[in-house]
Amino acid sequence: MGPRGIIVLVLGIETSCDDTGAAVYDIAHGLRSHALASQVEIHALYGGVVPELAARDHVRLLMPLVHQVLKEAQVTGSDIGGIAYTAGPGLSGALLVGAALGRSLAWAWQVPAVGVHHMEGHLLAPMLEDEPPAFPFVALLVSGGHTLLVDVLGVGRYRLLGGTLDDAVGEAFDKTAKLLGLGYPGGPAIAAAARDGDSNRWRFPRPMTDRPGLDFSFSGLKTYTRNTVPPGPLDEQTVADIACAFQDAAVDTLVIKCRRALEQTGRCRLVVAGGVGANTQLRERLKTMTASCGKTVFYPRPGFCTDNGAMIAYAGSLRLQAGEHEGLDFSVRARWSLADLSPVQQGRV
Ligand code: KG4
Ligand code: ZN
Repeated sequence: MGPRGIIVLVLGIETSCDDTGAAVYDIAHGLRSHALASQVEIHALYGGVVPELAARDHVRLLMPLVHQVLKEAQVTGSDIGGIAYTAGPGLSGALLVGAALGRSLAWAWQVPAVGVHHMEGHLLAPMLEDEPPAFPFVALLVSGGHTLLVDVLGVGRYRLLGGTLDDAVGEAFDKTAKLLGLGYPGGPAIAAAARDGDSNRWRFPRPMTDRPGLDFSFSGLKTYTRNTVPPGPLDEQTVADIACAFQDAAVDTLVIKCRRALEQTGRCRLVVAGGVGANTQLRERLKTMTASCGKTVFYPRPGFCTDNGAMIAYAGSLRLQAGEHEGLDFSVRARWSLADLSPVQQGRV
């Protein structure tokens, strides 16, 4: 806590899925430290996230990670003025680990704690970069569990423009990778394999782009991919060509819908966040598309597209500054719509 009870340093905790993240955000000077512990090796054995194993591993990893970020920020617990933890959406058991530790530390250190919406964390992650976007903007949120287009008027002021009717795009990447024997997590594996692919061998459909609207559907693309895979063992070139055709179709679909969302809302700024936002082809294509119509795209650095503690510390710092905090009890929400968040009053941030 700073002078007269003003919060200066916020500890952020992220445990919604299979990455354990922690960070210290300095409201006056920006990010002080952040660290991530990945559980990829454990879940890779099963080809996807096993919720119970994720929760147990968060228990093992989180406290040492908190020590690490405090040390790297050269502070101790008594310097922390507030705590932000991911309260949802995500895996309940995993979320409870972060929420329980965050709430307990806040009690021990006698500081306020706030539960943060994971997707609000993603959405605000570009604010941690040197040239942050100004409000309003359209946000494309693309992760393992979500594919959302959101009109962002301010912090907590979110109008949902479109979402997926079935699979999230990250999930489609993960399932396609599994189908091709590329392992977990699928997004980076597909992107790597696609680099050697021939984009002319197959052309996959761009779902729901031929009708108006901003919703998505990726399960058909997944099925189309499955039906394209030839029987028997796959040679490396075929895997690369299918990965390439899949990525082209997924990226194209996102680009078409982003262009449409910018046109419909009249916004001139696009923000892309969430794990799939780390995809190089998507980043390049959106840069070209926005430049061609005089608009600008903003991204977090690739490491802050995927789950991390820094975005939670930042989003939490805005809500703590606005006076939000939880009581002594705490709860998590496996499902939680962005549209249900309360606006943070302008001028209080
Ligand atoms: O945001 P995130 O780390 O976790 C969730 O909140 O879900 O997103 C994870 C998702 C996974 O589906 C992963 O395959 C995908 O993001 N992903 C990528 C890339 N890196 C991660 N998808 C495509 N290309 C990438 N480079
Ligand atoms: Zn995420």
